[in-house]
Amino acid sequence: DKILVLHGPNLNLLGLREPQHYGNTTLDAINQNLIAQGAAQQVEVITFQSNREYELIERIHAAYQEQIAYIVINPAAFTHTSVALRDALAGVKIPFVEVHLSNVHAREAFRHHSYFSDLATGVICGLGAQGYEYALNFAINKLKAQ
Ligand code: DQA
Repeated sequence: DKILVLHGPNLNLLGLREPQHYGNTTLDAINQNLIAQGAAQQVEVITFQSNREYELIERIHAAYQEQIAYIVINPAAFTHTSVALRDALAGVKIPFVEVHLSNVHAREAFRHHSYFSDLATGVICGLGAQGYEYALNFAINKLKAQ
């Protein structure tokens, strides 16, 4: 079983970037932790970050070819802007969990709307880096239950 963890723009800056919103954990630390969490359950976790909408869309298309069973995605700022990324996920029909480090509902109004939430199996926000762990745990349980 393979699970893809996708990170959108500026998440490569985690650790440095607005720690009051996003915490101090680096993206590399988050990814290594998720890979280990998957390995402990015989699940291959593949991680990918891009600042480019095009690359994220292409990665989602490739996920279909690779038979990725589940996606965990933090679309970052594309959450609030990208019909194209939404359409990519809808197109490949791979189930996904949407994750945000910060509680987007406690922030600016423009962060309250997501182009992804109604398609997602579920949404986790405001729990920091742990949100990814919970999302991955959920996805692994889903796959094991099949
Ligand atoms: C974010 C929230 C978004 O509003 C923001 O643009 C991000 C990160 C989060 O993880 O809290 O880049 O998705």
